[in-house]
Amino acid sequence: MVAPLKVGLAGLGTVGASVVTLIERQREALAARCGRAIEVVAVSARSREKARAADVGGLRWVGDPVALARDGEIDVFVELMGGEGDPAKAAVEAALAAGKSVITANKALLARHGVALAALAEARHVALNFEAAVAGGIPIVKTLREGLVGNQLARIYGILNGTCNYILTRMEQERLSFAECLKDAQRLGYAEADPSFDIEGHDTAQKLAILASLAFGTKVDPDAVYVEGISSITPADLDAADELGYRIKLLGVAMATEKGIEQRVHPTMVRKDSAIAQVMGVVNAVTVDADAVAAITLVGPGAGGMATASAVVSDIGDVARGVRTPPFGCPSARLSVSERAPMQRHEGGYYIRMLALDRPGTFATIAGRLSEQQISLESIVQRHRGTRPHGGDNPASATEPVPVILITYATTEDAIRKALAAVERDEVISGTPQVIRIEKN
Ligand SMILES: NC(=O)c1ccc[n+]([C@@H]2O[C@H](COP(=O)([O-])OP(=O)(O)OC[C@H]3O[C@@H](n4cnc5c(N)ncnc54)[C@H](OP(=O)(O)O)[C@@H]3O)[C@@H](O)[C@H]2O)c1
Repeated sequence: MVAPLKVGLAGLGTVGASVVTLIERQREALAARCGRAIEVVAVSARSREKARAADVGGLRWVGDPVALARDGEIDVFVELMGGEGDPAKAAVEAALAAGKSVITANKALLARHGVALAALAEARHVALNFEAAVAGGIPIVKTLREGLVGNQLARIYGILNGTCNYILTRMEQERLSFAECLKDAQRLGYAEADPSFDIEGHDTAQKLAILASLAFGTKVDPDAVYVEGISSITPADLDAADELGYRIKLLGVAMATEKGIEQRVHPTMVRKDSAIAQVMGVVNAVTVDADAVAAITLVGPGAGGMATASAVVSDIGDVARGVRTPPFGCPSARLSVSERAPMQRHEGGYYIRMLALDRPGTFATIAGRLSEQQISLESIVQRHRGTRPHGGDNPASATEPVPVILITYATTEDAIRKALAAVERDEVISGTPQVIRIEKN
């Protein structure tokens, strides 16, 4: 009989409580599949008195998570407290230093300290598994680290933040404003009281930095990611996208270019018939472009107690089976330095929405500025005054500016910025143009 794998678990919130419940529920199946029983033997959280969503009454309580991490009875330490600093960092370091494998769902910790923690795990010949840290229940870490090991990857991109996708979906389907949808997301518990980390793209950037490391063998570095959020997207953009055959998604994209690995997070136009465009609401999705397998897309819940617990338990199962790989796919000493994407050299198609002043020569001026930068247009849509794309009268007067939407062929960010700055200087448009990058898919 192989001895059970004894688990110490710090954090009994949404994910931690679900992990305790799932291990209990799947007790026999896990023992059969992993070749040994998995038992949670000790737990830690901030408050011992708090009512828990799981039955932890029979489990040993350890007040200090760092002491639990070093506890002599446990074989593996599961960190589900969150936060890039202590006690999560100190506890994970203590467990690894004590020669215990660690499982964490903590993207913030991994984005900041992942490489150093991976080096520590490798030096102690233990596992550092973090399937739940990116895209919740979707097994993308294992897919990259193991399933696609024989492929060369060209690009990985995904919808990695359910809150943003929920907001964009509601805006698109119900023609609501960003502010209205954000309020609903907060009411339903999808968005935090301070939603800026999600809607400004920083949550996606942390997850993308981890995926880029796994996909391209670079050091995890969230500061190397170019980030733009979704708060400037309007129903007019979603309408225009729809008419032109696109949807707008907040994507995290990492791709190999001649200038290195480009990592960026921004609102993106994706073709309506692509797999990623079908992903609606709080769901997450990741597409990988790989040379041998071509493109694959994984879709599923990116958050939620049980879905995230599914990923954590899979990681615990690997430790029980004795499966251990370098945390970021290749040994940490071989990870290359990632540099911040030079966005001005980004190449691709662009959507531009601007309000053109209705006077002779406006279009010739705009066309001239685009042509100076060798930008060619795939389509031009000019809204007629008095119509709205989804019906209804627009009581605009004859002197109001006219919305114009341009779709460009592939060009560079630098060219787009220069052309639009010149158009603004020419005073032929009202306000600042909206610019959204188009992702080929
Ligand atoms: N929720 C999701 O859907 C989801 C999805 C993917 C990844 N994650 C990640 O999973 C981790 C946990 O998230 P969660 O949603 O479960 O968080 P949560 O519900 O806020 O739970 C956090 C738990 O950690 C404990 N804790 C916090 N600070 C502590 C401290 N200083 N000392 C001891 N215990 C402490 C809390 O104790 P008390 O209960 O006593 O306050 C609580 O039990 C985070 O890294 C998060 O990013 C979550």
